[in-house]
Amino acid sequence: MVEINSYDDLVAAANEAAQRFAAKIDSAISVNELMEIEPGIKGKKSAFVEFRKFLGRLEPDERPSAGAIVQEIVSNLNQAFDTKFQALKEIERKISLQEDRLDLTEVIAGLAGSPVGMRGKLHPVTQAREKLEDTFLGMGFSVEEGPEIETDWFNFEALNIPPSHPARGMWDTFYLDIGEPETILLRTHTSPVQVRVMMTQKPPIYSVMPGRCFRRDTPDARHLAVFHQIEGLVIDKGITFASLAGTIDRFTTAYFGPNIHARLRPAYFPFTEPSAEFEINCTICEGHGCRTCSNTGWIELGGCGMVDPNVFLAVGIDPEEWSGFAFGFGIDRLVQMRYSLPDIRVLIENDLRHSMSSRYN
Ligand code: PHE
Repeated sequence: MVEINSYDDLVAAANEAAQRFAAKIDSAISVNELMEIEPGIKGKKSAFVEFRKFLGRLEPDERPSAGAIVQEIVSNLNQAFDTKFQALKEIERKISLQEDRLDLTEVIAGLAGSPVGMRGKLHPVTQAREKLEDTFLGMGFSVEEGPEIETDWFNFEALNIPPSHPARGMWDTFYLDIGEPETILLRTHTSPVQVRVMMTQKPPIYSVMPGRCFRRDTPDARHLAVFHQIEGLVIDKGITFASLAGTIDRFTTAYFGPNIHARLRPAYFPFTEPSAEFEINCTICEGHGCRTCSNTGWIELGGCGMVDPNVFLAVGIDPEEWSGFAFGFGIDRLVQMRYSLPDIRVLIENDLRHSMSSRYN
């Protein structure tokens, strides 16, 4: 450092130090680097302490102005230092947040032991639903949707199930605490959507109606309390039971391939007459009998039948002029059979080890 002997020396040296430190503050690119400059500005041995000491050796009339100059330089540098410190701190905080972020896609790709391109998939039930929609669209059907919260009228009454009808026991229902008791509910099947379609569209109707349904069932190997159905409704002139059986057969081979067969068994539903249950070979035991199919060799997928004239009357369609069939089956059950899952509950367990297995892809 140049020797200071006069007022002018002091001002020159102070200005020179100010510029030098300002440039250092400016070029610091990390908090660490900045901290190395700190003693030179704020420390006990900094040049500015020396300058202050020298003030005492100036003539008394020179001291105030020299003091003010040094003071201003020091406070400007302090301010510049603090501002830069905050800015660098903020940048470093952002970088460390970014670095600490968990990259879940990396974890999943690593788990699967595959490099890229395994970033996750739609849920098998969603995939099945989309495939079903495509299959039926290809057969000339439209896809319709309806609400999950329904009134008793749409879910039961319009479907020929009046209050206290014994058939209500077929659907263990979740009722909502809204309005009169047991009037608002979570739909127990997708059949209320066929009521809505029939009330808003004129025949001929060729529609499928996929969606989520709810029943107070205890989950087991074949049942979930929240599950998915797809309903089908065809109304036209001259529709017969043979049209229904043909549609189901065609769909089964389209979805499962030629080795899986469907059968219809006489059943009862209040909204169809005659009615049938729709079963396919159990894909887990291939018909030999196992725990999943309760040793019957068959798995029930859903129900179907010819639309009951009482349903037509409830929605204002003339049963003398039109006839039709309806079917409804469980998409989750379909997925269970498609991938031979002994227990349907794996679909809602979110256990990644299942989804990593190649048979799900
Ligand atoms: N809705 C019936 C059920 O969930 C299935 C079904 C649909 C039966 C259409 C006949 C016709 O059990």
